[in-house]
Amino acid sequence: MEKEIAIAIVGGTGSLGSALALRLARPGIRVIIGSRDREKARTVVESLKKSLESGTLEGKVNREAVKEAEFAVIAVPYEGHATMVTELKGQLAGKTVIDAVVPLRKGRPFVPPAGSALLEAQEILGGEAPVVGALHNISAVDLQQPNAPLGDVLVCGDSDAAKQRVMEIIHRIGARTFDAGPAANCYVVEGLTGVMIYLNRKYKSKHASVKVTGIGE
Ligand SMILES: NC(=O)c1ccc[n+]([C@@H]2O[C@H](COP(=O)([O-])OP(=O)(O)OC[C@H]3O[C@@H](n4cnc5c(N)ncnc54)[C@H](OP(=O)(O)O)[C@@H]3O)[C@@H](O)[C@H]2O)c1
Repeated sequence: MEKEIAIAIVGGTGSLGSALALRLARPGIRVIIGSRDREKARTVVESLKKSLESGTLEGKVNREAVKEAEFAVIAVPYEGHATMVTELKGQLAGKTVIDAVVPLRKGRPFVPPAGSALLEAQEILGGEAPVVGALHNISAVDLQQPNAPLGDVLVCGDSDAAKQRVMEIIHRIGARTFDAGPAANCYVVEGLTGVMIYLNRKYKSKHASVKVTGIGE
């Protein structure tokens, strides 16, 4: 029998985290929603369970959520990113970290001092956990709908093995993935989300996403 995978979502009570939790739980992955507030995590889980026919969803404080999982998705606003990764450093050691954070200021992308959110996490974790950048350009609104088609996911990072593990997980939520290169490429992928936000505003949509053409067609 296949080993059960557990994925913690730090900031899992938010738009991206809760939509992702539903998509991951449906194919049978154990999902632990993390929050700074235990009660909030439990309330969000109870509410999400109403739209989940099967699967395992739990709610815990971020530290406990990460401790129990092999994968940890970081899904907090950029303002809380460095503090959160620093606070969780001990628990994140040995896990595969999936960083979905986009540095945004008033809805506009910017390049942070480390070069990207992914490089910032990598700097803080100092090799104790591989960090893979992914899911930045996915629409939380699409994720929330069980059968809505998803955009492609560009995956960056310096560990090929960790990227491979993350791509396998993302396939299970129904998205195509592409290895988009090393961690140094991630500022481009993070910044693209700023373009998606602009496109959504300009064309009154909530679904702008990225599609790669010319590969595997
Ligand atoms: N929404 C999308 O469509 C989307 C798509 C791709 C990538 N992203 C990126 O994913 C991340 C999360 O996006 P989101 O829209 O889900 O954000 P969000 O709803 O504003 O926040 C997510 C959760 O983060 C926690 N949080 C808020 N401020 C925090 C802080 N200062 N420090 C630590 N935790 C904090 C909150 O959880 P608790 O109060 O429960 O702790 C909140 O529910 C962002 O970096 C965003 O750029 C979003």
